[in-house]
Amino acid sequence: MKIVHVASELFPYVKTGGLADAVGSLCATLAGHGHDVSVFIPGYRAVVDHRDAANAEKVMPLKIEMGDTFMSGDVRMFSPRTNLKIYLICREEFFDRKSPYGNGERDYEDNHHRYIFFCKAVAETLRLTNMRADIVHAHDWQAALMPLFLRYAERRHGVTLTLKTIFTIHNIAFQGVFPMRSFYRTNLPEELMGIDGVEFYGQMSFMKAGILFSDRVTTVSPRYSREIQTPEFGCGLDGVVGTRAEDIVGLINGIDTAVWNPVSDEHLPARYSAGNLAGKAVCRAELLKKMKLEPAAANVPVFGMVCRLAEQKGVQLVLANREFFLKRDCRLVILGAGDRKLEQAVRELAAGAPGKIALAQKLDEALSHLVEAGSDFFVMPSLFEPCGLNQMYSQAYGTVPLVSSVGGLVDTVTDFNASPDEGTGISFDPTAEGLGWGLKRAAALFQDKVTYSAVQARGMARDFSWQKAALAYEQLYESAL
Ligand code: ADP
Ligand code: GLC
Repeated sequence: MKIVHVASELFPYVKTGGLADAVGSLCATLAGHGHDVSVFIPGYRAVVDHRDAANAEKVMPLKIEMGDTFMSGDVRMFSPRTNLKIYLICREEFFDRKSPYGNGERDYEDNHHRYIFFCKAVAETLRLTNMRADIVHAHDWQAALMPLFLRYAERRHGVTLTLKTIFTIHNIAFQGVFPMRSFYRTNLPEELMGIDGVEFYGQMSFMKAGILFSDRVTTVSPRYSREIQTPEFGCGLDGVVGTRAEDIVGLINGIDTAVWNPVSDEHLPARYSAGNLAGKAVCRAELLKKMKLEPAAANVPVFGMVCRLAEQKGVQLVLANREFFLKRDCRLVILGAGDRKLEQAVRELAAGAPGKIALAQKLDEALSHLVEAGSDFFVMPSLFEPCGLNQMYSQAYGTVPLVSSVGGLVDTVTDFNASPDEGTGISFDPTAEGLGWGLKRAAALFQDKVTYSAVQARGMARDFSWQKAALAYEQLYESAL
């Protein structure tokens, strides 16, 4: 199949979260299966400066209609592996910036223009290069206008497209909602400004367009596909999602086993496998040392956490359980950055318990591997979690995950109390009390080495590979066609 992906992030070129990992691994796996895969991403500074893009070939100049003006740019392409081409939509004014979406404090004010331009430019490139895609697969709000632009390009240019569009919701909490006055930049028919179009409480919603106008909609776990049809998790779009109930399917992400594998992980001071965990103890000692924490005896649990410091990730639930971490003999390592208030609160928590609790307030790919490998438990008390990757990395690394029972966490972690023969982790309600209960169970489990080892071994034996995950997408593409 000829498959085109459209996304705002792609590992290893630009990443702010799991979207980059998911798109990167899915595309590489599909290419490995022999499909002809092209990925369109914005030509952010980090991507253009990446060594892989150094000899990118100029594909064509762009002149994109944006309301009553035309904006120029260009398309570049490089191919990091067989069957995989990466296309960059470049326009310095929009994408030559330090970070993709904002300056840390707030989002860029022209994000609607940036991603309207991006999607239009992709549609225009497909048309002018006569790229005959079978599938155009758009991810999250930044690419959500793709199906509409393709459909109306077809109408305007009098061609019939046989391709099918897929839209994947990685996180419905980020919708791309902007003042309706931005609509004129799309040059789409005015009828689309109404409630059956992109209108969302008087504003314009990119994500709503993706949900309504693509041939198939997917979420990144089965559980999340059902959750977002309820007011509790739908972020106002539950009704809209419900209208596509027949066409929506939840496909769980995989993990990139070339990058996340304790047997071969180059970021670790020692490597290990389920058969020989000696290297894991070396990683644990190194993690504590690196974070300037006191060494911990074998019966003292080390808790790790790696995430965006955002409410979604339940950081406030960890803060609410501060007494547990302060009073118990344990260690807590948090790697994360994000929300200023949460950063400060976690900093204060760590400052109050030197030697026991540490925060690394940054984005650090190598350290994230060490936290996964060196912890005994991984803490992930998300309020909602479309899929989540770290709980899968944890299981692969023999680190028992503590997860709230939401979204993809339900689909990928089995509680060992509920299923003594199959359990791979600990799950609980997404509340402070729920996490408190989970932490107490973890502390008890850690004293029962036989059961702990069994839970650990079952997690390490699970197959979370993209080989498996990508098959589900291939089947979906075939059924759509
Ligand atoms: P989300 O996309 O909602 O942030 P995921 O669990 O899908 O959540 O993916 C998060 C990804 O980002 C994981 O690969 C995780 O290891 C990584 N990550 C998050 N915070 C950091 C950080 N501070 N340093 C390094 N990697 C991080
Ligand atoms: C989003 C979600 C996360 C998911 C990731 C990749 O960022 O928050 O749960 O794992 O996308 O699909």
